[in-house]
Amino acid sequence: MTRGRFVSFEGIEGSGKTTQIARLAERWRAEGVPVLVTREPGGTALGESMRRMLLDSRTIDLTAEAELLLFYASRSQNIEEKIRPAVERGDTVICDRFFDASFAYQGYGRGIEQAVIQRLTDLVCREFRPELTVLLDIDPATGLERARRRNRARAREEGRFESEDLGFYERVRDGYLELARRDPARFRVVPALGAVEEVEVRVHGVLAARAHQP
Ligand code: TYD
Repeated sequence: MTRGRFVSFEGIEGSGKTTQIARLAERWRAEGVPVLVTREPGGTALGESMRRMLLDSRTIDLTAEAELLLFYASRSQNIEEKIRPAVERGDTVICDRFFDASFAYQGYGRGIEQAVIQRLTDLVCREFRPELTVLLDIDPATGLERARRRNRARAREEGRFESEDLGFYERVRDGYLELARRDPARFRVVPALGAVEEVEVRVHGVLAARAHQP
């Protein structure tokens, strides 16, 4: 039996990942491809409860290390419970963020050493990694403005990261671009400015250019 594809989407707040993932999943399903959409943090019952803790703006004084470990706890559960079984069944998995988010946010953003994050990645993910990662790139001022407008209504529930300053998001964005430069075989950087439909065409273009279409 052939293994399914595993694709991740990355980008800072307001880059439009979630919208693009929903459209891509819809397109592939219409072509008859079985698709599992999942997200991090989250994806499982344990992961979703960690998500609430991690994103709630009432969670204060969380150390950078505790934050990192919670993301990896959620990731471990998601891989073993959801992602790996789906890929082994031959389904296509689209994940809204994966380990690159930890390198970008906890590494470049919070200043945790990349080697430490790599050791956790080796422990939790082993050889398991996305075959393709779409990085939706947007300048932080524009992205944050989009995200804050959307989140005004649910600010307390999911606002912890959105309250970081612009400098944090500049480090995260530059970090993502650096990760993409280091692994050009896996990453596709897609400019996220413009209408949803325009970005969708770009995303489709980079995915269609791959040899292994579903
Ligand atoms: P997400 O739900 O993708 O937020 P949005 O839809 O607004 O883009 O991600 C939640 C937050 O968690 C986001 O601020 C990034 C952060 N995050 C990390 O810091 N490290 C990680 O490993 C992951 C997966 C997410």
